[in-house]
Amino acid sequence: MAFGWIDEQARARREAGLVRVLRPRPADSAPLDLASNDYLGLARHPEVTEGAARAARKWGAGATGSRLVTGTTELHAELERELAAFCGFEAALVFSSGYAANLAAVTALAPHGSLVVSDAGNHASLIDGCRLARGATQVVTHADPDAVRKALATHEGPAIAVSDTVFSVDGDAAPLAGLAQACREHGAGLVVDDAHGLGVLGAGGRGAAYEAGLAGADDVVVTVTLSKSLGSQGGAVLGPAPVIEHLVNAARTFIFDTGLAPAAAGGALAALTLLRREPERAARARAVAGELHARLTAMGLSAVRPDAAVVSVRAPSPEGAVQWAADCRSAGLSVGCFRPPSVPDGISRLRLTARADLSAEQVGRAVRVIGETRP
Ligand SMILES: Cc1ncc(COP(=O)(O)O)c(C=O)c1O
Repeated sequence: MAFGWIDEQARARREAGLVRVLRPRPADSAPLDLASNDYLGLARHPEVTEGAARAARKWGAGATGSRLVTGTTELHAELERELAAFCGFEAALVFSSGYAANLAAVTALAPHGSLVVSDAGNHASLIDGCRLARGATQVVTHADPDAVRKALATHEGPAIAVSDTVFSVDGDAAPLAGLAQACREHGAGLVVDDAHGLGVLGAGGRGAAYEAGLAGADDVVVTVTLSKSLGSQGGAVLGPAPVIEHLVNAARTFIFDTGLAPAAAGGALAALTLLRREPERAARARAVAGELHARLTAMGLSAVRPDAAVVSVRAPSPEGAVQWAADCRSAGLSVGCFRPPSVPDGISRLRLTARADLSAEQVGRAVRVIGETRP
C-alpha cells in the first residue's frame, strides 16, 4: 500500500504521546487566551481589522500575482517604508509569511562556498533556511557568541550567523551584542529573527536589534513576522538597501510566491500606526510576562525568566503537558503546549503568552488555573 508506512509513524506517535489534533475555535471563543501570539492584543483591535477591511475593499482579497509581476501594490511599498522606518533600518521587503522571510534571508545570503553558523535553539524556519541554503551549516551551542566566533574562525569566504532574538520555546533572549561582535571580528553578517521581539522589545516595541543598538548597521539583517505583535499575517526582512535589492533578485520565496494579501498589509500598517501612538503596549506585555513568571515560580513551578513576552513552564512529560493544557482549557484558560519535536531538548512545556491587554484579574485567574490543574 502506497501510504502504509504512515500507519507505522502514527502508531509510534500515539505511543509517545505526540499526536497533534486541530481544534477549530469559534469566532466568539470565550476562554482566556494565553496561547496565541497576539502579544499586544491587536488582532481584533477595531483600527487593525478596519485597516485590513479597507485594504481588501480597495485592493482586492488577494495580491493577484507574485511581487515582481502584479503582486506589489502601493500599499506593500508603504508598509515596507513604515516597517523600515519604525525599526530603524534602511529598507524592508515584505513576504507572505515570517517563515518565507526566514527562508529568503538565509538562502539568499548563504551562497555556494559560504558558511551559516546557526544557534541550536533556532526556530524551524531558520533551520529550514539552513537546509535549503547552498552554503554549509554549522550548528553551535545555544546563545554562545564564543561558539559562533570559533565556527567563523574555521572558514574563509562569505559567512553569516543566524539566531532568533527571543527563542520561541523558553522565551530567553539571544546575546545580540556578543553575536554582532563575534561576526564583526570575522567580517561575517548577522541575521536575526525578531518574530518575538518586534512590538515587545526596544523603545515602543521597535525590536531587539533596535534595543541592542544594531538597527541600521550595514552588517545586520533582521527578519520579522507581521502575525504576532502586529496582529496580522505576513513577514518581512529589514536591512541595508543593497541586501534588500539582492533579495528582490535572488530570494526564491519572494520571487515565486504570491504577494502578501492586501488585507494583511493593511492590518499590519494600522497596527504600526497604533503602536507609534501607544508605545506603552510593549512595556505592558513585558510587565505581564514578569508578573506571570514571578507568581508561577512562587508556586514552585519551573519557568524560565522571560526576556520578552513568552513564558515557558516545564511539564513532567508530553502526556502530562497535553493533560495539563486540556485541564486548563476545561477551566476556561487557553495555553500553548510544546512537545517534541518542537522542543530541541525534548522537555515538554506549557507556553504562555503575556498579552499587553490582560487585566490584573485575568493574570490572577490564569495563574490560579495553572496552579490548580498542575499535574
Ligand atoms: C521565531 C519564529 N520565527 C518565524 C516564525 C514564522 O512566522 P510566520 O508565522 O509569520 O510564518 C515564527 C512563528 O510562527 C516564530 O516563532
